[in-house]
Amino acid sequence: MKFDRSKVDHHSYDEKVINEQLRIFYLEHFEEKSTFAEDVKNGLLTANKFLLPKYFYDVRGSELFKRICETDEYYLTRTELSIIKKYANHISSSNINKNTLVELGSGSSAKSKHILDSFLKCRDKVKYVPIDVSDIIVESSKKLIEKYANLHITGLVSFYEEGVDFITQLDESAKVILFLGSSIGNFTFDAEEIFLKRLRNDMREDDILLIGFDMIKDEKVLLNAYNDREGITSEFNLNILRRINEGLGGNFNLKMFKHDAIFNKDESRIEMHLVSIEAQEVYIKAIDETIAFEKGETIHTENSHKFSDEKIEDIANRADLFVSEKFKDEKNYFSLCILKPK
Ligand code: AVJ
Repeated sequence: MKFDRSKVDHHSYDEKVINEQLRIFYLEHFEEKSTFAEDVKNGLLTANKFLLPKYFYDVRGSELFKRICETDEYYLTRTELSIIKKYANHISSSNINKNTLVELGSGSSAKSKHILDSFLKCRDKVKYVPIDVSDIIVESSKKLIEKYANLHITGLVSFYEEGVDFITQLDESAKVILFLGSSIGNFTFDAEEIFLKRLRNDMREDDILLIGFDMIKDEKVLLNAYNDREGITSEFNLNILRRINEGLGGNFNLKMFKHDAIFNKDESRIEMHLVSIEAQEVYIKAIDETIAFEKGETIHTENSHKFSDEKIEDIANRADLFVSEKFKDEKNYFSLCILKPK
């Protein structure tokens, strides 16, 4: 194992070579990004309190998210997986000139595994570049290389945009970029446009983006997916307060807040909130602030946008991309799209 501090353009990183099939780059964030404490302060000292959903995913939160995916109500993962299984061979054979798969937010690679499998079947060698803020990718990559002798993995522990920037500089081969799970649904309209434009800017003309969108559907189905009977989504939502307690010395009483998920029809999105059960005050040491809550006041913790075909076209358009192919399930619950540069 060796660590090597080097630079690719303006990126600073440590490289950890695990073996000839696997290396991991830990990218240093070169962009000014706010800290957890700053984001919490910013979100809780405003009239309409909010917290950023990226803070759900500590070890515990990631575990809870995995369990959400296994609930009966959360159809997203299951549906997208069924689409992937059905079309992976097609995607592989219609992109036979590409041997490199880049994945944003790969987590445990559970879904992309099926795409890798199809790609490996008809290529001598496949390169996989999982990008995730969590080093969960180290363990999942180790498992993958045990299974596939002709898979070569370059894992990037980094933010998505910086990771894509970095890999396009390091490796100029044609790529399939995966952005699964309808994770794009977490972005606001503006952030999503900025994100896709930046991604587009890093893409070669023959690169493709394979991206999952959760579609608008019966409201009851949507609401149930974020209000599972076992209460796992509720635990997941409340976990963000636990994280503030543990990481920033907060004294949130988790029993004094309750999970709420609603469908905002005008914005076409599920919103998750944490509702203050009583009027209360919470102190957070790291920012030395006392936050007052009224009874019934909420902290908005997540937006999960739901899409229509028109909306997807529009999103692609704004980033100078077009929808080249769409793969759907029978119920039209989920859409896996191939976007290409115009
Ligand atoms: C991972 C962002 C796609 O919005 O459905 C699951 C996260 N939140 N249950 C989603 C989530 C509540 C999920 N994404």
